[in-house]
Amino acid sequence: MRVGIGHDTHRLSEGRPLILGGIRIEHPRGLLGHSDADAALHAVADALLGAAGLGDIGELYPDNDSRWEGLDSRRLLSEVVAMVAAAGWRTVNCDLIVHAQEPKIGPYKPALRASIARLLQIDPSAMNVKAKTGELVGPIGRAEAISCEAVVLIEPGEAEPCPYPENESSVGITPSHFGVPDTPR
Ligand code: CDP
Ligand code: ZN
Repeated sequence: MRVGIGHDTHRLSEGRPLILGGIRIEHPRGLLGHSDADAALHAVADALLGAAGLGDIGELYPDNDSRWEGLDSRRLLSEVVAMVAAAGWRTVNCDLIVHAQEPKIGPYKPALRASIARLLQIDPSAMNVKAKTGELVGPIGRAEAISCEAVVLIEPGEAEPCPYPENESSVGITPSHFGVPDTPR
């Protein structure tokens, strides 16, 4: 077994949809970034890469590369899962903390668990989501940003192969390992 940790922060900005954990959350402001800025999926992806000793997502998807502009992070995480599977690992469980003063994450927890579990190819019971405010202190507490932290445990084994609707991998991963992101948003 191996363990990995991931962290990500994005600024909250007017005129952006709030995409977190692969789902759309109703809020007047969304996360700003080169991709869809899904801090939750980015933290989970980094935790997986860390557990497998494969670096971090910035090495795979540099934010100065125009190919990744507006990138759907469900695709990013699917590709990371495929890469980790190709290295001989599958996920055991994941624990995620969303640091956000707003919006209230509580009502979205079941949807977040289901969405991320599907991408990680684990049961939703093995995908835990916690939320913390910043107690009105610092950039989180002033609702300037949302940060996410994730811990992932992996064990030897293969992830379930499933087809991805597009043929081309953006980072050269075998298409048969892609997950199918289907959560409407
Ligand atoms: O109670 P404590 O100060 O430890 O935590 P908190 O940050 O005040 O969060 C209290 C509760 O609100 C927890 O159950 C969180 O899951 C929930 N929460 C939430 O639903 N959405 C947020 N953006 C932050 C916290
Ligand atoms: Zn990010």
